[in-house]
Amino acid sequence: VDISSRIGARPLSALLPNLAEQSGPRYRALSAALAALLLDGRLAPGVRLPSERGLADALAMSRSTATAAYDDLANSGLLIRKRGSGSYLTLPANARVSGPGARMTRDQRDDATLDLSIACLPAIPGTVESATVAVAAELGRYLSGGGYQPYGLDILRAAVAERYRSRGVPTSPDEVLITNGAQHGFDLVLRLAINPGDRVLTELPTYPGALDAIRAHSARAAAVPFAGDGRWDATAISNTLQQTAPRLAFLIPDFHNPTGALADTEQRREVLAAARRAGTTVVIDESFVDIDLSDTSERIHKPQPMAALDRTVISIGSLSKPIWGGLRIGWIRADADLVHRLAVVRARSDMSGAVIDQLIARHLLDDLDRIVEQRCVELRAKRDALLAALATELPTWKPTYPVGGLSSWVELDAPAATALTHRLEQRGVLITPGSRFALDGTLERFLRIPFALPVTDLLRAIDVIAETWQQLGLAYDVYDSGRMPRQQRSLVTA
Ligand SMILES: Cc1ncc(COP(=O)(O)O)c(C=O)c1O
Repeated sequence: VDISSRIGARPLSALLPNLAEQSGPRYRALSAALAALLLDGRLAPGVRLPSERGLADALAMSRSTATAAYDDLANSGLLIRKRGSGSYLTLPANARVSGPGARMTRDQRDDATLDLSIACLPAIPGTVESATVAVAAELGRYLSGGGYQPYGLDILRAAVAERYRSRGVPTSPDEVLITNGAQHGFDLVLRLAINPGDRVLTELPTYPGALDAIRAHSARAAAVPFAGDGRWDATAISNTLQQTAPRLAFLIPDFHNPTGALADTEQRREVLAAARRAGTTVVIDESFVDIDLSDTSERIHKPQPMAALDRTVISIGSLSKPIWGGLRIGWIRADADLVHRLAVVRARSDMSGAVIDQLIARHLLDDLDRIVEQRCVELRAKRDALLAALATELPTWKPTYPVGGLSSWVELDAPAATALTHRLEQRGVLITPGSRFALDGTLERFLRIPFALPVTDLLRAIDVIAETWQQLGLAYDVYDSGRMPRQQRSLVTA
């Protein structure tokens, strides 16, 4: 069965960074950028690439450069040429999909690999184990029924509703749908709300898994840049809402991935008012809402939840960040009628969530505040260690100061994040380049650095990153960093 697809020269060139800004020979920059698209999951194995001539024309380069790039990919085992039918991306048999956003890695990890490619934490030892033991006694009640519950277990829906109420968002259990994580939740909303070609507004940068989901539903993402100071830009979002009236807006105002930014209540009100005027449904991803790294004294100013400011907001939550990604428990909070419609869509795709996992999640929710408090103490120390190491070792890089979440978004002093991440992979450090958080190969000047690893590993990784950056010869004093302005335009891309 042929399940491959093809990509044309124009759409492919829109996904590539500005090759003239990359270091080394042009063909190398092209092959590295194509490899990055494959390894990041933006192009699937099996995709047929445009002809060498077609790509060369679209990129205004010589055909021999495109040919050399394809040769280079073929030599790395990432491309096969079929006589008479073209060139196809492929992956060696020992490669596999890894983590949110479908990044591919070769299965060559060893204990020394430092994985900074995803922003997630291991479970706190003992927590999931003890909840799992506790549910054995409750399971009998469910085993006598069929076990299919597309809305989720009532007791878990009630526990999630109670959590919203404690945050000042009046919520009844029938306004909660339990999902297999936040990514599943957003996919269900897209399934229900989106027709091909509809627009979805996102922040730029944004969580790559959201961009993948938007693309998978053939929607068009309109990405609105953050403000120059790394803050949430409510005015830019409101203006784009007004100009483009998208069907949905997908936003992460609570400790945004990747910047760690927090939108204040006034900004939230501004965006919600603009969305109402534009007729846009607002979807809020609260995956990181509990990962609050501010001091207790700063918390008096905690902004109001979006759903407290506007009842029509769809909120998506998850236990992946506060507890453990392997649990696969998340939820959607929306009005009861929408929850019914989402449950219908859900039943069509995966029937129901696992009863056992939901019982475990119900137990863990009892303890969530304590678990989160413990996590945040550790994470503050890790964040501070990361920022201190960056200030010492890479003083010309500009990291955001994350008031929450699990990562800092770092502006480099040259647009070479993909080249850097390739070299790092060879040295056992996996990390995601900024371009993964955009639609079209921009943000090459940025790197997301999570602070989830133990401090010693984090410091070791920063050592390797600093050394590799020096070797790339791109330190600011030898590089004309004025040549490429920071990406600040609003991007509307198919
Ligand atoms: C903003 C955001 N949303 C959703 C997800 C996926 O979460 P889940 O494991 O709950 O599906 C992630 C994971 O990194 C994320 O960062």
